[in-house]
Amino acid sequence: MKNRICEMLGIRYPIFLGGMAHVAREPLVSAVSNAGGLGIIGAGGMSPEELDRQIQLVRKATDRPFGVNLMLMDPKVPELVEVVLSAQVPMVTTGAGNPAKYMDSLKGAGVKVFPVVPAVALARRMEKLGADGVIAEGTESGGHVGTETTMALVPQVVDAVRVPVVAAGGIADGRGMAAALALGAEGVQLGTRFLASVEAPVHEKYKQAVLKASDRATIVTGRTLGRPVRCLLNKLTRTLAKYEAEGRPPEEFESLAVGGLRRAVYEGDLEGGSLMAGQVAGLIHEIKPVAEIIEEMVREAAEILSRGVDFPVP
Ligand SMILES: Cc1cc2nc3c(=O)[nH]c(=O)nc-3n(C[C@H](O)[C@H](O)[C@H](O)COP(=O)(O)O)c2cc1C
Repeated sequence: MKNRICEMLGIRYPIFLGGMAHVAREPLVSAVSNAGGLGIIGAGGMSPEELDRQIQLVRKATDRPFGVNLMLMDPKVPELVEVVLSAQVPMVTTGAGNPAKYMDSLKGAGVKVFPVVPAVALARRMEKLGADGVIAEGTESGGHVGTETTMALVPQVVDAVRVPVVAAGGIADGRGMAAALALGAEGVQLGTRFLASVEAPVHEKYKQAVLKASDRATIVTGRTLGRPVRCLLNKLTRTLAKYEAEGRPPEEFESLAVGGLRRAVYEGDLEGGSLMAGQVAGLIHEIKPVAEIIEEMVREAAEILSRGVDFPVP
């Protein structure tokens, strides 16, 4: 039986690059597509012109399929959708919200749509609206997060929808991929692992901070404001957590947080930047080329899944 996601999208391995704002750009996107996965441009924070340029750069660097992630909290989404349509991008993922109002135009143009969902109810709604698949993302993830864990969420979403499910959050190697497939997912999406890759256009200090991270190195801030984000612990996130605990006004929180990811990605600001990363950062010890990450992952997952069990089967 062929993998439904690979068949639908024309890719070799069911491995997505998380559409990370400011991170999932060239040359990272084409590296993932060229290695057999699906590179996804993170359009969050981009102008429509910049997205158009990134699409052109990706097309120059690969003839393989790729996608665009629309970060729904971004006020420019309607213009970004126009760029996606006019450039005939084959696939879109959506993050941090409900993409209902864009579904008709995207589906009408034949774009495959995979919304990121943090809960079963949204997965069901997306399937009804015509989503081609859903990305069930657990709270282990880097960036904007929900509350449910990948381990608990993925099988519940798998049971609730008929479209293929991609698991995201806490996956960084073949063990994680095998676990996700065992839970019923048909593919995986990785953010933090690809952030610490050779091709990621990210400040070296940010990558090194991911390598140095331990299992408890991340924190979620912004839950009380309805915008929870997981980042590495540093001066900024400790201060934001303190502000929340003290119940300071949202404006004070926002004035510190705004532009945080840019400061991390472009300036390598380790103390004042938002070093978005998932709990899996503690598992990442080496900056590797994307092709190596993908090959090792696929080989390890296949080996694990081909093992039998070492206990009697009733
Ligand atoms: C730096 C960073 C930025 C991210 N930005 C976005 C985004 O703009 N849109 C989105 O849908 N997801 C975003 N994510 C989530 C990833 O796409 C992916 O689902 C997540 O990182 C998977 O979890 P992992 O980090 O444990 O691999 C971001 C994650 C990180 C680490």
